[in-house]
Formats: sequence, C-alpha cells, structure tokens
Amino acid sequence: MTNPYDAAHGQSINDPNGFWGRIAEDCHWTKRWNRVLDDSRKPFYRWFTGGELNTCYNALDLHVDGGRGHQPALIYDSPVTQTLKTFTYLQLRDEVARFAGALANQGVAKGDRVVVYMPMIPEAVIAMLACARLGAVHSVVFGGFAAPELATRINDAKPKVVVSASCGIEVSRVIPYKPLLDGAIGMAGSKPERCIIVQRPMCKAEMTPGRDLDWGDVMAKARPHDCVPVQATDPLYILYTSGTTGIPKGVVRDNGGHVVALKYTMKAIYNVDAGDVYWAASDVGWVVGHSYIVYAPLFKGCTSILFEGKPVGTPDAGVFWRVIAQHGVKALFTAPTAFRAIKREDPNAALMKNFDLSRFKALFLAGERLDPDTLRWAQRSLGVPVIDHWWQTETGWAIATNCMGLHHFTVKEGSPTKPAPGWNLFALGTDKQPLAAGQIGALVARLPLPPGTLPTLWNNDPGFLKSYLEEFPGYYKTADAGFIDPEGYVFVMSRTDDIINVAGHRLSTGAMEEILADHQDVAECAVLGVEDVLKGQVPIGFMVLKAGVTRSHDEIIKEVVAMVRDRIGPVASFKTATVVKRLPKTRSGKILRGTIQKIADNKEWKMPATIDDPVIFDEITAALGTIGYAKERKA
Ligand code: COA
Ligand code: AMP
Repeated sequence: MTNPYDAAHGQSINDPNGFWGRIAEDCHWTKRWNRVLDDSRKPFYRWFTGGELNTCYNALDLHVDGGRGHQPALIYDSPVTQTLKTFTYLQLRDEVARFAGALANQGVAKGDRVVVYMPMIPEAVIAMLACARLGAVHSVVFGGFAAPELATRINDAKPKVVVSASCGIEVSRVIPYKPLLDGAIGMAGSKPERCIIVQRPMCKAEMTPGRDLDWGDVMAKARPHDCVPVQATDPLYILYTSGTTGIPKGVVRDNGGHVVALKYTMKAIYNVDAGDVYWAASDVGWVVGHSYIVYAPLFKGCTSILFEGKPVGTPDAGVFWRVIAQHGVKALFTAPTAFRAIKREDPNAALMKNFDLSRFKALFLAGERLDPDTLRWAQRSLGVPVIDHWWQTETGWAIATNCMGLHHFTVKEGSPTKPAPGWNLFALGTDKQPLAAGQIGALVARLPLPPGTLPTLWNNDPGFLKSYLEEFPGYYKTADAGFIDPEGYVFVMSRTDDIINVAGHRLSTGAMEEILADHQDVAECAVLGVEDVLKGQVPIGFMVLKAGVTRSHDEIIKEVVAMVRDRIGPVASFKTATVVKRLPKTRSGKILRGTIQKIADNKEWKMPATIDDPVIFDEITAALGTIGYAKERKA
C-alpha cells in the first residue's frame, strides 16, 4: 500500500502543476498565478508566473489578520548578552513595517538591493523582512567573513543601503563589525549611499557623517510601510555561496515558489504546525538561517528561536537542552558539528538530565555528512528520531530527507533517506546515463527543480547554466557524488569539486589557494580539506617556495594563515600549512589533491599509475607528519 510520502512524491513528479498548485492555495496571493510551472523558457523554469504576493505579508500580517497577533513569533535568546526578548506576531509586524518605512525614507524601493551584515540579533530578522515588505532584495553576508569577501558581495549586488551593527559577540569576545564594513566599502567599486548601524552597548561604532545613520534614529523618524505586492518570479534575496573560484556565486531566490515550498516543508518534513516552537540553531548568514530561522517558521505561524550563542561555552554544553526546555521547542535543526562539540564536552549527556525535554519530538541535522557516531549518540541521548537531510544553499530546502509529516522511514546510517517531494534524483555515470542501484556516480536532479530552488545566479544566467545545467543536459548537477540504493535511499558521499565543509560552513579550497599563491615567496600551492573530529573537515595548505627563498618557513606559514584570515575571514579555520619541495602531479600537471587527502586521513590509497617518481609521496607523508597528519601509511 502506498504511504503518504510515496503518494506525495509520485504526484509531485508526475503532476507538478496539480501538486504545487494545490499547495499554493495555502498561501496569500494578491493576484492568482496564470501558470503553476512555466516551462516556456527552458531550462529556465519559473513557478507561479503571473501571480503576485508579498513574502512579508505571508510571514507576518497574514497571522496578525488571522488572529495569531499575540502569539510569539520570534524569541531572541542570547546567552552571550544575557538577553531574552519575545516578539509577538503583532510586535514583529510593527517593527518590520516601521523599518520598511525607514528604508523607504532612504530611497529603497522594489527591486533595490540591501546588504545585511549582522550578528544574530532581532534587527537582522527585522531588516530581512522589511526588505521583503518593500519588494527590495536583501543579501545577507555572514559575520564571520572578512572585509574583502564583503566587498566582493557589495560589488556584485550593488546595494543602495547596507544594514549592519557595531559588533558581534563570539562566546565572550566582542568582534567589532564596523571596521570590517568600512574596510569593505573602501575596497568596493560600488558604494552604498547609506549604512544603517545598530549600536550595541558593548561596542560603539564610529559613524561616517553623511553616510551612516543610527538604527534608533531612523526608526524614530519612520512611519510604518505597507506590503508591496511583487511578481512571484521577482527576486526576494541573493545569497552568495562559495563556488570553485574566489568569486562567490549569487544564488537568487524568488518570492512565490519560496513561500509555497517552504511553508509546505514545515509540516511535510519537520512535522510542525502553526503554534509550535521551532528552532534552527544556525546563523541568518547561511541558507539554513534564511529558510528556517526567518521564513519558513513564520510562513507556518510557528514561534522561531533566534539564538545568539554556541553549542558549547555559552555557558556550557547544556545550553541546547536549556533552550529546548525553556521555550518548549518541538523540532531542532542544526549541523552535526554542533552535536560533535556537545558530545566532546559532555560525552554522557549528563547536562541533559537537568532539563525537561518532553515537548521535544525530533532532531534534524544537515550541512555536512552525518557521521554514524554522532547519529547514534544523538539518538541514544535524546530518545527522539534523528533525521539527516541533504541540502544546498542553491536548493533552499532539503533535497533528500525523511519526511516526518508524511511517513517516517527506518533510518539507514549514512543516508538522508529519500528524495523530498519535487525532487527526481539520479546517480549518473561517466556516460551521463543513470547507474544501477548502489553504484556511485554524480548525484543530479531531473529538471524542473521544485519551487523555492534557485531560478538563476544574480545577473549571471550564463554562470547558472555553466555551473549547474551544462554538464548533464536536462539535469541539475548537485556537485555531490553518491548513490541510490535498491530501496531508493540516497547516500551522499563527497563533493565532486573543491568545496569543503568546515563546521557546517561551505568553503572553497580554490579560493584559499588563490590567496596562498599571492604570497611573494610561494611558487605553487595546494589546499585541501582533511578530516577533523570536531569540524568534520578543516583546510590545510601545502606550499612550494620560490627558488632562492631563505626566510624561515614558520614565518611564511604565519603570514599565509593571517592572509586567509584577513581576506576570507576567521570562518575559514585555516590554521595549518607546511612547506614541501614539490607537489605530486599527473603528467598533465594536475596536482593529486585526492591522493594527498587520503594519505592525510590515513585512508587506503593507490600509487597513481602516472607518477614517475614515487618518492614524492614519502616527502608528502613526512610533511604531513610534521603537522600532525598521516600518522601511519597504508600504501
Ligand atoms: N562573526 C565573527 N566571527 C565568527 C563568526 C561570526 N558570526 N562565526 C564564527 N566566527 C569565528 C569564530 O570566532 C572562530 O574564530 P577563531 O578562529 O578566532 O576562534 C572562527 O570564526 C571559526 O568559527 P567556527 O567554525 O564556528 O568554530 P568555533 O570553534 O568558534 O565553534 C562550533 C565550533 C562547532 C561550536 C561551531 O562551528 C558551531 O556552533 N557550529 C554550528 C553549526 C552551524 O551553525 N552551521 C551552520 C549551517 S547549519
Ligand atoms: P551549503 O550550500 O553550505 O548548504 O553546503 C552544501 C553542501 O553540503 C552539499 O553540496 C553537500 O556536500 C554538503 N551537505 C549538506 N547536507 C548534507 C548531508 N545531509 N549529508 C552529506 N552532505 C551534506
């Protein structure tokens, strides 16, 4: 007998118009769509063309008008500042409407871009929703990125206004944001007209007269602004993510498909209803934060938690259990690395015993491979289903998951279970044909992608085609390799490009190589991700120095570590590098990064047939030994 998941998945693939059209009835439209799936410009598929709506209306006003005005919409829980603040739907709507008015006073209108560079404070959420209210396009930049990364995004998005704060707080360290913002604007070719700054009490930012405005002042002068209807296909936001070069890709999200898909996922995937408390312990700077701190829980009428803290150290490894118990969280979404951090500090989950977790029903993990140890520890300690789901910034929501609101499948370790409704997944071989069950290949999704996924890259249709659609015509390339087993379970093994996942943060080793190569003493280099017990992966660098360089290697290593921190940011976690005489390469000159990685991780590896001088691997193994890797060799 078919279960609700099979029925939903089958219909979503066989009749996408019927499936998504029915779901879209649950959202508020100011004008109904003409077409559900518009395939008139293949492979640029669009959803709900002709329809008009406002995303902010669907997130806030709809619930106020529908009688949920006094229900908490957002709970700001900040152990790093000892603050707890609740906004009801009515209060959040009013704050957002007023800030929308403030942005409008600065000339921001439909289609204009606004960059948001902020820590995890309510003003970040308010700024995002205020943009949505005006039909303006926000681009949130994660606070752990350094000035040059912010400058690249400002240059590409060309914002009229930047919204920022005086500082972020990393456990107990105050990190001033304003010098980074000023530095980025100095570097950027395209300058914003205004910056609106939230002055936090722990650090006052220097304001640039004529350009910078205080959040409090602009709010005091503003009048509430109403929702501006936009086309379903108009952009809601741009979110930059690592590509295979130093230039990040501007993933675009539209308005209509996004509301429809995200609202649907709250019940279908997370099994939560309006009124439930939902917590995504991520950051608004990442896609998980966009989708599941801000938008989806509010579309559904849930209470969302905005947590400014870390899984450990704020104050201890019991903070997640404290938040779950205190606010009655039903579902938590975070990255496996957060659980590894907790497990390391509190292996027996002793701190959990202090809290009543009876309202907690499921844990969802994503962002990186879920290692079986962490899965079992979480299952054992929490006694609730632990759901791995597979995601990308590009997709905006899960590609493969155990749909808890449809049918709970038995969990298989190492698998995010089955394709989510709307996703028609295949593993393709080198001949670009679907592989038999169990065989590893390129994981791809047959077009069209479901609503809520990226329609293109910002101002870059050719880049969209090149990055995702050209290699496997008719399919979206996920750039993940893996397989689908005979029961339809998906297994995601590794990236097929140079992307690594460090503590659930997506980074490009190619971008780091560009920085190392920029050092005056470096002739060539390689950066690769090696296994790390806490962060999943961390980058390490190999450098061949220019002939005649006699400076201390330690000095040079310190300098390149500082360069990566200054140019990409602390989030890169680039702390280790070593100097080697040469790098192993194929005869065509390609550095054998994969082999070095296997040696570093103590995995089985084979001597590549194309290597003329095998001694080079002894040199690499010895170099890895000096930085704590490749303890035993298994060639
Ligand atoms: N602003 C400024 N700096 C930031 C920052 C921010 N928003 N976020 C991180 N950083 C800094 C950190 O302070 C750290 O700096 P350091 O090198 O000076 O110590 C560096 O960037 C690396 O940060 P992170 O990778 O987060 O490591 P960590 O050691 O501080 O914490 C974890 C490790 C596991 C506790 C942490 O990564 C975590 O909570 N992860 C949760 C997963 C997550 O949120 N994933 C997002 C996708 S779901
Ligand atoms: P991001 O765009 O930061 O969400 O990173 C997306 C990448 O993270 C994917 O392409 C995968 O490589 C990896 N990833 C995300 N979720 C999972 C998961 N559940 N299992 C394995 N890898 C994952």
